[in-house]
Amino acid sequence: MELLRDADIDPAPLAGRRVAIVGYGNQGRAQALNLHDSGIDVVVGLRGGSGSTIEAEASGLATALVADAVGSADVVMMLAPDEIHGALYREIEPHLRNGAALGFSHGLSIRFGFVEPRADLDIFLLAPKGPGTALRSLYREGKGMVALWAVEQDATGGARGIALAYGRAIGCARAGLIASSFAEEAEADLFNEQAVVWGGVPELLIAGFETLVDAGFSPEVAFLECVGELKLIAELIEERGIAGMREAISNTAELGALVGGKRIVDDGVRMRMAEILREVRAGRFADELRNEEAGGYRRLESARTEAQATLLNTTFRKLRDLGGD
Ligand SMILES: NC(=O)c1ccc[n+]([C@@H]2O[C@H](COP(=O)([O-])OP(=O)(O)OC[C@H]3O[C@@H](n4cnc5c(N)ncnc54)[C@H](OP(=O)(O)O)[C@@H]3O)[C@@H](O)[C@H]2O)c1
Repeated sequence: MELLRDADIDPAPLAGRRVAIVGYGNQGRAQALNLHDSGIDVVVGLRGGSGSTIEAEASGLATALVADAVGSADVVMMLAPDEIHGALYREIEPHLRNGAALGFSHGLSIRFGFVEPRADLDIFLLAPKGPGTALRSLYREGKGMVALWAVEQDATGGARGIALAYGRAIGCARAGLIASSFAEEAEADLFNEQAVVWGGVPELLIAGFETLVDAGFSPEVAFLECVGELKLIAELIEERGIAGMREAISNTAELGALVGGKRIVDDGVRMRMAEILREVRAGRFADELRNEEAGGYRRLESARTEAQATLLNTTFRKLRDLGGD
């Protein structure tokens, strides 16, 4: 694995260049502010009437309508939601300068054909491995967040230099930039979202909570046991790794984990994980994402409403309110 850090990277490819950040959400805000604080000329591209305009300007950033921002920039970063990248690209394509660089923080829209870029453009990936809020707070603390980088199309011969200089300017090269590809980043990220951290883990917590409640335990005890301890294990794993986490807990918990863990995550789980990965690679999830957007996000909206009304969620709110917030 090649890990590039600040000292390995030439910042010159971005010097005197203008970067347009399209979208001022989770990643857009963090990347725009980090670039600005690194002395890069940044403009945030927003839709007409966007509520984000006041916020971006109050933070000292220049803003413009998307078309104007894109037309004025040498580097354009697509930081609007993935599922609209196809429509957004068609809207901005006529305004992209010849030989401009177009960057992404997720490989999905190139890997699954949402965006089919013009041949004169440099296409690069700079994907921080964490949320924008943490990207910004780490930068302010003088630290960085590891990121993956890749070049899909090198029309000018300068795509690599721009990708690395961009990763340096948003602070990621303080921690390290790791070479990847749009396909590897997109497939691994979608797999994790579905099968592991964002899909698998919450469903395991819910199943554990419901098992205890169905057996007559109080919802409060079930919540504290099955959901409330997640932060403790996440912090231990981050600090010490999985082996170190196991050494840090009591012998009772360690033996319990040994006895129960592999009964829960058995070969059946691994087979379904492999199935999810095959489906991701075949583009099934990308199609679902396209359909969800086309259908007005109905499935997501109804899942959000349902989740708010569950016993687990009312228990969460009750316990949180005990904390006095
Ligand atoms: N969330 C993360 O921390 C994270 C982590 C790694 C990578 N990424 C990647 O970063 C990219 C951005 O994700 P995100 O979560 O930051 O997105 P997000 O927060 O959902 O983005 C919202 C922003 O996009 C703007 N937007 C929406 N539709 C638009 C349109 N048609 N034209 C122009 N602007 C539009 C919104 O404008 P308004 O302000 O007008 O509403 C808002 O500023 C994605 O590729 C994602 O996969 C995200």
